[in-house]
Amino acid sequence: MKSYIQTNKDRFLTELLDWLRIPSVSADNKFAGDVRKAAEFIAEKFKAAGADDVEISETAGHPIVFGQKIIDKSLPTILVYGHYDVQPADPYELWDSPPFEPVVKDEKIFARGSCDDKGQVYMHVKAFETMMATNSLACNVKFMIEGEEEVGSNNLGIFVAANKAKLSADVILISDTAIVANDIPSIDVGLRGLSYLEVEVTGSNRDLHSGVYGGAVANPINVLAKMIASLHDENNHITIPHFYDNVAELSTIERAAMAETPFSLEEYKKDLGINDIRGEAGYSTIERASIRPTLDANGIWGGYIGEGSKTVLPSKAFAKISMRLVPNQTTAEITELFTNHFLSIAPAGVSVQVRPHHGGEPYVTPTDSIAYQAAEMAMQESFNKKPVPTRGGGSIPIVALFEKELGLKTVLMGFGLDTDAIHSPNEHFGLFNFYKGIETIPLYFKYFAELSKK
Ligand code: BES
Ligand code: MN
Ligand code: MN
Repeated sequence: MKSYIQTNKDRFLTELLDWLRIPSVSADNKFAGDVRKAAEFIAEKFKAAGADDVEISETAGHPIVFGQKIIDKSLPTILVYGHYDVQPADPYELWDSPPFEPVVKDEKIFARGSCDDKGQVYMHVKAFETMMATNSLACNVKFMIEGEEEVGSNNLGIFVAANKAKLSADVILISDTAIVANDIPSIDVGLRGLSYLEVEVTGSNRDLHSGVYGGAVANPINVLAKMIASLHDENNHITIPHFYDNVAELSTIERAAMAETPFSLEEYKKDLGINDIRGEAGYSTIERASIRPTLDANGIWGGYIGEGSKTVLPSKAFAKISMRLVPNQTTAEITELFTNHFLSIAPAGVSVQVRPHHGGEPYVTPTDSIAYQAAEMAMQESFNKKPVPTRGGGSIPIVALFEKELGLKTVLMGFGLDTDAIHSPNEHFGLFNFYKGIETIPLYFKYFAELSKK
């Protein structure tokens, strides 16, 4: 198996670079044709690697790619999920090389989607090819690769609910998360949920001269800034009443275990170019970014933002606000609490609207299952070091739904690094990580089959 990977490694990389050249940005409709091309590309690669029943399923949005290889009904089945859509590459001018013209520099692949998640999906395609070519596929496998993860996976939810038999499996395996460092393998055992909304503050019925009316009429930008600022107190706790009511607190033992995760505050600050950290009082940086809920403005606009200046008192101001959720908060509950609170703090002189966008529930993987142990054994063998469980701060909304609709647990065996700049300019993915993934995935199949027998 190792020699097959060695012999074919350059081709594996060239193919991935070809895929990364297709700008599969799901959020922006002008890329819809490219999103489809990226789906067709990967469907062809699944076929070429030996998958059966490869199909591109239409949805109300971007298509879903499915394929499978059922070798023996008595063997366990692994359902591999991933996404071929990517985040918008803006701002383009901050990239050192164009986002959709991948380059390999310093042993890293630079391109939008290189790590999140095309590079990690491609590890699975090539691991599958390797297992097929070396006659060592140890489990049945199904692949479901979607094109709308970065916009909330709404259509995938419908697809999953409508195709339960087709998707039946023993476990879901996803590579769309990170390890602590290349010499510190780890497995994410948690994802945060999400509640995402847009707010609109309206003052006067039109933009006004800021000299003629300024000082006498509410300015929606000033009001919105103050409303957002009031959502945190001086300890950086969120001030929405009942926001924390259902938050699962970790035990002292669990928190002590988390504090063992290697972490350098100096490196963290240096990597981000910040002179200090800022977060909820009473929690460590790792905790703030994984087991604690958050509230952040993701965008804010209104008034005049063109060149030079325009003396104007705007009629409207807007913001996009996201909240990361942890067990046992739910999107529905938090969206309602936010909406009620935000409307209640609107001062006289403006009107406020809140519009929910999308969401997803938090998820925790049990570590006492053979599905998790197989990942531990696979990484132990390929990294020569036992992986540590970590809690991730990001969200993959479909994971909680997999459990609800299919009754399946998910194992998050990702190979990226937090410093890979996913969603940022200069996103990259290490060649080490790409090949380590291709090497580790067949081991997962092997150990999952072995442990399932017992
Ligand atoms: N792969 C990420 C999620 C992730 C990143 C989990 C790092 C753990 C560690 C995924 O593609 C992502 O970006 N998800 C979005 C979800 C949203 C658009 C619904 C997120 O977390 O913002
Ligand atoms: Mn992802
Ligand atoms: Mn992402």
